[in-house]
Amino acid sequence: MSTIATDFERLMALDHAHVWHPFAPMRQWRECEPIIIERAEGFTLIDVKGKEYIDGYSSLWCNVHGHRRPEIDDAIRDQLDRIAHATMLGSATVPAIELAAMLVAIVNEVTPAQTSPKLNKVFYTDAGATATEVAFKMAAGHHFHRADRARDTFLAVRGGYHGDTVGAMSVGFLHSMHEPFEKLVFSTQNIAAPDARSVAASPGFEHEWPNWDADRRTRASEQALGSLESALRTHGNRIAALVMEPLMQGAGGMIEHPDGFLAQVASRCREHGALLIADEVATGLGRTGAMLACDHERIRPDILCLAKGLTGGYLPLAATLCTDQISESFEGEPHENRTLYHGHTYTGNPLGAAAAIASLTLMQQDKTVANAAKLGSIIRDRLRESLADHPHVGDVRRRGVMTGIELVASRYPWQSFAPAKRIGASVCDEARTHGVMIRPLGDVVVLNPAPGMDEDTLHRMLDVVIDAIRGTRLG
Ligand SMILES: Cc1ncc(COP(=O)(O)O)c(C=O)c1O
Repeated sequence: MSTIATDFERLMALDHAHVWHPFAPMRQWRECEPIIIERAEGFTLIDVKGKEYIDGYSSLWCNVHGHRRPEIDDAIRDQLDRIAHATMLGSATVPAIELAAMLVAIVNEVTPAQTSPKLNKVFYTDAGATATEVAFKMAAGHHFHRADRARDTFLAVRGGYHGDTVGAMSVGFLHSMHEPFEKLVFSTQNIAAPDARSVAASPGFEHEWPNWDADRRTRASEQALGSLESALRTHGNRIAALVMEPLMQGAGGMIEHPDGFLAQVASRCREHGALLIADEVATGLGRTGAMLACDHERIRPDILCLAKGLTGGYLPLAATLCTDQISESFEGEPHENRTLYHGHTYTGNPLGAAAAIASLTLMQQDKTVANAAKLGSIIRDRLRESLADHPHVGDVRRRGVMTGIELVASRYPWQSFAPAKRIGASVCDEARTHGVMIRPLGDVVVLNPAPGMDEDTLHRMLDVVIDAIRGTRLG
């Protein structure tokens, strides 16, 4: 037996014996051979057996410029020669300060349509869930310290995902996933998502993708705004903040929001004194074809959460930005007890901050945001050309490179597959066999390549995905 095979067998045995994988049904996991990634080159992941895969999900939506980009590698090595970690509790570090200034400049670049204060303060954590978790505390604490103490609940968009910690789970509660934890979560108010699928599935709707008309989007938007209006009418002065993923609800199934929806939500929140928390953990930093998804509608939220791509997909670092008004609510004399008692051991880790500075510098240098927009149009055109006539492609939703291809039992009338058929998973397994790494969300095949990917790699990836959809027996 070759060394590679022996090593694979050994690693698989250890993995099966000791590793508990996230979001994985572990019994079924152990029935299959895992793909064990050992290294990468650019946009290609290489497993211990030497098999290559195009990284079609950018290592869970975080890789930006490809793997082993020398500029980021060097920035981390350079920082490693100085210090790997020092705490931000009671001291500061050079890269965390530099990065905060850089982020403030970047996120305020687009002038908002309506005057709104700049996002001027940066609070570091280390994951998307921790970025949203502190955002909730910023919002609740802001109202508390301003003596607006009735504002103790949140509005969330149904199907939203904000992470797996208890607060994040509370605003993104999904019965199918979170039932055992129902007693742990706090209650929130929910509004409908502007989800065009609800219109597609309604009686009398006759269009099929790609001919779904603008009317479908308008109707979905109106329904969701109606539910926002009624939530605000009933609970308006109790709402600390509305939390949403702008433009694209990612993990909820790539639910694309109609143009103008975000702007309408932002203005309703403002009218009712509720803060707007934009969770741009997935959509931020180029993926939608703008630096921030909020930039598309010239909206500046009160609180902004960034994570995933912040370090170019290298290291765990997250940032929650807020206005001076919010941070100042937590300032006062010691006896007033206004301090935000919140933080983590690795908050603002210098290696992560150095990687983030290098990644953001590369984004400017390589025009990564424009590249993501270009990749997005290629994805749109190629999927239209090759899948428009496919009887089981119900919808393709996309913003920049964030793409969901929904597979359905029937396009008209709209009918989903039985979940037990695991149609989305079969297509992704087929793509993996042919060297493209993607992951489904139910029967939504998700493509989310790095915003900095080159066109040739993207085309090769699309060839495999399209063949996998066309070649897998779906009916
Ligand atoms: C919009 C959004 N918020 C928060 C999170 C949680 O991020 P993390 O997995 O880094 O905790 C995710 C992860 O997919 C996300 O998509």
